[in-house]
Amino acid sequence: MKVSIVGTGYVGLTTGVCLGYLGHKVTCVDSDPKKIGMLQSGKTPIYEPFLTELMAAAQHNLQFCTEYKGAVQEADVIFIAVGTPPSPDGSPDLKYLRAAAEGIGQYYEGDFLVVVNKSTVPIGSGNWVGSLVRESYEKHHGRKPNGHFSVASNPEFLREGSALHDSLYADRVVIGSDNGRALEVLYSLYRPVLDQTFAPPPYLPRPEGLGAVPLIATDLASAELIKYAANAFLATKISYINEIGQLAEKVGADITQVAKGIGLDARIGTRFLQAGIGWGGSCFGKDTAALVATAREYNIGMPIVEAAREVNKRQRDRVVEKLLAELKILKGRTVGLLGLAFKPNTDDLREAPAVDIARKLVERGCKVKVHDPVALNKFEAEYPDLAVVSCDSPEDTADDTDALVLVTEWSDYRELDWEVMASRMRSPLLLDGRNALDRAALERIGFRYLSVA
Ligand code: UGA
Repeated sequence: MKVSIVGTGYVGLTTGVCLGYLGHKVTCVDSDPKKIGMLQSGKTPIYEPFLTELMAAAQHNLQFCTEYKGAVQEADVIFIAVGTPPSPDGSPDLKYLRAAAEGIGQYYEGDFLVVVNKSTVPIGSGNWVGSLVRESYEKHHGRKPNGHFSVASNPEFLREGSALHDSLYADRVVIGSDNGRALEVLYSLYRPVLDQTFAPPPYLPRPEGLGAVPLIATDLASAELIKYAANAFLATKISYINEIGQLAEKVGADITQVAKGIGLDARIGTRFLQAGIGWGGSCFGKDTAALVATAREYNIGMPIVEAAREVNKRQRDRVVEKLLAELKILKGRTVGLLGLAFKPNTDDLREAPAVDIARKLVERGCKVKVHDPVALNKFEAEYPDLAVVSCDSPEDTADDTDALVLVTEWSDYRELDWEVMASRMRSPLLLDGRNALDRAALERIGFRYLSVA
């Protein structure tokens, strides 16, 4: 099939590269010529494991451009995968979505076309995008479209850091449209994923035992709500274990054991029960806020989701409170943060807890040293005003610190020689923000070990 994708962020680029790998002819459009230039020369503007490799493997099926015209006129399916960043009031800013819909309407020629919302967009956006495409078509063509385009929703469930795996070996594919023909087109498009008939790339082997991938074909509104409900549930699950973690600390229980003990109940499941500093990233915060805002429009409160947000906020404050309780005075102290990205295997700093924590510590008069195996340059470019010291290695970060905080559980940090780390610190105090390190081993070395939960 001929597929075009508007937006080459995490979602758009991953989708485009995967569909190209599966054998579709894919054109990726982005208004940023710098990004398109990089992509044309085989480089990816984001860090995502194996993306460069899969892009090279799908090269013959991929094109990158800044112009809508050809991309719209030749496509059977167009995915809108533009950013929907939060506005100051928490609601998603839809200006890029509007621009994409208008661009599609301008160049649409009247053959059957499926316009797919792939970005996480507020419930009801399918209808809105449909009306924007129609209005733009009328404006540029001086007549109404012949009705042969249809809007669908196809939410993605990929996690940054394992985006390709999540796309090729999805737990499920969700498609929503009020038009049967549009659903048929999307069904054909995803057939290789649904039936798992493609040859797996050597670096992304198919999980053992994976059979057919379930398809949920439903109406527009349901598909849109599935996405928000899934993210809010996962976010709530994390906040739940963090809330239990606080009590665990008071009663002397080990939250890691508690999480395992409840997670092995198949009805609960072990994943997303890792207690710690809490969630960051571009999705959970934004999507839970948008869900609460949508419910408010219908005069419905969402106390569970709101509480999950509150608990998540509190976890970050607890890092500073714990350091204060231990060090008594924060002014003039030196604290090292290990990890800046909002989670391992990504260079994404959106809503990253480390940024928030660094800022709070600087405000309290601390000298803050930071390290990240991948996101350091990006951090320096995005936060030039944050007065922290960037370090090239974890060991340099440890030098003369009064405390270290493990903020992102990169595997590099698990493998550190912690004896060396301790020897370079002023006092060996470690706050393991992710419950990721071996407490007993660290205490044997002489660390004072704290956790957030
Ligand atoms: C999340 C969802 O997991 C994806 O299914 C969804 O497609 C995506 O949002 C989206 O809407 O685009 P992502 O934000 O990439 O994916 O990252 P996650 O792996 O979900 O992690 C989110 C945050 O939760 C991270 O800061 C992570 O450290 C934290 N987390 C995760 C925990 O604190 N504990 C856990 O047990 C799991």
